[in-house]
Amino acid sequence: MALAVQSFFHAPTGTWSHVAHAGGDAVVVDPVLDFDAASGRIGTDSARVLLEYLSQQGLRLRHVLETHAHADHLSAAAFLRIRTGAPVAIGSGIRSVQAHFAPLFGWDPGDAALHDAFDTLLGDGDVLQAGALRIEVMALPGHTADSLGYRIGDNVFVGDTLFAPDIGTARCDFPGGDCQALYRSIHRLHSLPGDTLLWLCHDYPPAGRERRASVSVAESARDNRMLAADTPEEAFVAARRARDAGLPAPQLLYPALQVNIRGGRLPPAEAGGRRYLRTPLRVEGDADGLG
Ligand SMILES: [Fe+2]
Repeated sequence: MALAVQSFFHAPTGTWSHVAHAGGDAVVVDPVLDFDAASGRIGTDSARVLLEYLSQQGLRLRHVLETHAHADHLSAAAFLRIRTGAPVAIGSGIRSVQAHFAPLFGWDPGDAALHDAFDTLLGDGDVLQAGALRIEVMALPGHTADSLGYRIGDNVFVGDTLFAPDIGTARCDFPGGDCQALYRSIHRLHSLPGDTLLWLCHDYPPAGRERRASVSVAESARDNRMLAADTPEEAFVAARRARDAGLPAPQLLYPALQVNIRGGRLPPAEAGGRRYLRTPLRVEGDADGLG
């Protein structure tokens, strides 16, 4: 049964969400909440577009799939779960991401809101049956410890592991990131049959280029500017480390992790009923005396 993929671009964060379906059964990969950091506004317009597509096509949403705990956008997984009842899956490496970030936000890593944030924790080689869809799980560590690829026939949803060939690969400087692991994960993808389609989580197209939701294994292995099939590991690791050293923290790092390690749920309301997202401060130099 042929897999159909419809991709939706969230322009403010450069994120692709994908709806993959066959035989009336669907999964959504990496849905996005709308969030304006300046005003604190959170909305579901983009996620409702996914629901409308599912409804128009007469599809049953069987699972929401997160490729990893994202640091650059807020996940709409919980919203889709509430609206459809579909369970939410992520890599079992989410536990280490939760353990790292929970204390930064003043949360107990054993908090039930974290422990129960996802319905399905997956590891390499697991098979998820989502109605008619048979999904093979590929652990793709490197960008984060919990990064997964979801392989459905000759399609793989690769998260941030790879970008379009002219953009390159994911950064590896987040907690749990590992350049050597990313090198191996990308080689694993590049060793798949050449006509396999790799579906991307982001695109940041330069002026004059159409944005791209996918790339074939053959094209990626031939043309990826950071890691083509003949790039030696040492060269990749050195170049990746040098590039990461100059990258700023993602603008939505703390808002995103605060929501995403909870499966897309917002932090609980505080006294007065208002919800807050926290920014842990890094107090440097003389600022230390300001407390
Ligand atoms: Fe990411």
